[in-house]
Amino acid sequence: MDSQDVHDDLEEVLYTADQIQARIGELAAEIDRDYADKDVLIVGVLKGAVMVMADLSRALSSHIAMDWMAVSSYGSGTKSSGVVRILKDLDADLMNRHVLIVEDIIDSGLTLSWLKANLQSRGPASVEICTLLRKPDAAKVPIDVKYIGYDIPNKFVVGYGLDFAEKYRNLDCIGILAPHVYE
Ligand code: PRP
Repeated sequence: MDSQDVHDDLEEVLYTADQIQARIGELAAEIDRDYADKDVLIVGVLKGAVMVMADLSRALSSHIAMDWMAVSSYGSGTKSSGVVRILKDLDADLMNRHVLIVEDIIDSGLTLSWLKANLQSRGPASVEICTLLRKPDAAKVPIDVKYIGYDIPNKFVVGYGLDFAEKYRNLDCIGILAPHVYE
């Protein structure tokens, strides 16, 4: 689905499908360079990161392994607590591996802060983070992110994996959701 299919629902298109692909290509080139002599396990965080994982992995020119996690905050009302529950854990053993967590968005930073610490406790050689989007104005905890696609304003964004009530994940661009959709 593209922006024409949902044009009344978007206040603005932030990044087109072509822009996203170009930026992901740049991130992949950086990752290829930084991990040139290392085996990397890229870890996608379901569900939002599916699109970034699919495109980033194909833009890499080196061999990588892929694994997936699903996490959930303990109840929607306590999201700000930063307490996260693992719904699906990794299949891979992280001992001595170079791990790159791939996310669609870092909002408060609480999920990634918890996840990075959790994966670091499993004996990996390194744990880094790649996110397509980050909202600097929404940050509640400092978090070290090695690869960032775009810093964006603190607005409700959808598309390219990001949802509102499970819709818009299959939108090929990233846009700001118009308030009339959720108010
Ligand atoms: C989103 C995103 C991150 C998290 C970021 O996932 O994919 O995992 O929120 O928020 P934070 O920085 O405030 O912790 P979400 O919980 O919406 O699940 P989804 O990927 O399945 O849509």
